[in-house]
Amino acid sequence: MYPNTRLRRTRQADWSRRLVRENSLSVNDLIWSVVVSDTADPVEPVAAMPGVERLSLAALAKAAKEAHALGIPAIAIFPHIDPAKKDDAGSEALNPDGLVPNAIRTIKDAAPDLGVVCDVALDPFTTHGHDGILQGDRIANDETVERLIEQALVQADAGCDVVAPSDMMDGRIGAIREALEGEGHHDTMILSYAAKYASGFYGPYREAIGSAALKGDKQTYQMDPSNRDECLREVELDIAEGADMVMVKPGLPYLDIVRALSDTFPVPVYAFQVSGEYAMIEAAAANGWIDGERVMMESLLAFKRAGAAGVVTYFARRAARKLG
Ligand code: PBG
Repeated sequence: MYPNTRLRRTRQADWSRRLVRENSLSVNDLIWSVVVSDTADPVEPVAAMPGVERLSLAALAKAAKEAHALGIPAIAIFPHIDPAKKDDAGSEALNPDGLVPNAIRTIKDAAPDLGVVCDVALDPFTTHGHDGILQGDRIANDETVERLIEQALVQADAGCDVVAPSDMMDGRIGAIREALEGEGHHDTMILSYAAKYASGFYGPYREAIGSAALKGDKQTYQMDPSNRDECLREVELDIAEGADMVMVKPGLPYLDIVRALSDTFPVPVYAFQVSGEYAMIEAAAANGWIDGERVMMESLLAFKRAGAAGVVTYFARRAARKLG
C-alpha cells in the first residue's frame, strides 16, 4: 500500500469530480433514430420498444421541430411501409415519391437546419426482408449495388444530407460516391455502416419496420461477431472509396470495435445503439430491476469513452431533454 497515493481524493466532492472528468456527453453527440410509417395515424406503438412509436409524416414534422429545439444535430429515418408496396426487388426504395423522400422533405420543411440521415438498404422494401436482391438463396452483390446507387440518388434528390449505406455489399461506397458526384451532389455526406455485424440485437427493429419474416439470416453479408481485424479492412476500404464517417453496429456489445476504429482512423466514428439494446434497458427498467434513466445516460457516455464521435440512438430525445 502506498499511503500517499489516494485516488479517492479527487472523487470527494462534486467540483473536483467535474474538474477531473475525462469524457462527457452533450446533445451534439446525438443522432435520433426514428421510425416513420405510411400507415400510422398519427402514431403507432412498437411493442418490443416501449416509448418508440412509428410516426406519420405529420407526427414526424412535430418531432423534427422538437429535435431541433432541443439542439439535436440530426435525425435518422427508418421506414415502415405498407406491406402491399413490398416486392422481391424492393422497388419502392427507388420511388421518388415514396415514404422516405416524403419524410426527408417533411423534415426539411419543418426544421431546415436539422440534419437528415437515411439508411441505404433494401430490407424495409423487400418481401423477404433481406438488404439486397435475392438470387436463389444468395444476395447478388453487384446487382444490389446498382439498386443502392439509385436509392441513394433518390434520397439525395429529396434533400437528404447524409446517406448511410447499411447493407454491407462490397464496393457500394465507391459506386455511390461516384454517382453522387456525377449528379452534382458534391456535398452529400456518406456515413458508411462499415463495421456492421450479423447480430441478434436487431430483433425489435424487424417489428418496428415490419420485416419480421426474414428468410434465412444475413451472415453472408454482415460481419461475423467473432471478428475484429476484418473491420479494420472494411473501414480502410470505405474511407478509400469516399466515406466521410463510419458506423459501428450494434453499439454497446462492440465498444472494443469503436475503440479500435477511433484509434486507427482519422474519421469520425459513430456507434448505433440498436433496437435490442434499447429494448433490454427498457425491459429491465419496466421491471424495476435497473434505474432506466441512469442506465440510458451511462450507456450513452460509454460510447464517448470508447472514442465515438456520436451515437445513433432511440433515446436521443429523452437524453437531450435530460441534458438540456
Ligand atoms: C438494415 C438495418 C437494420 C438496422 C438498421 N438498418 C437491421 C439489419 O441489418 O438486419 C437495425 C437497427 C436497429 O436494430 O435498431 N439495413
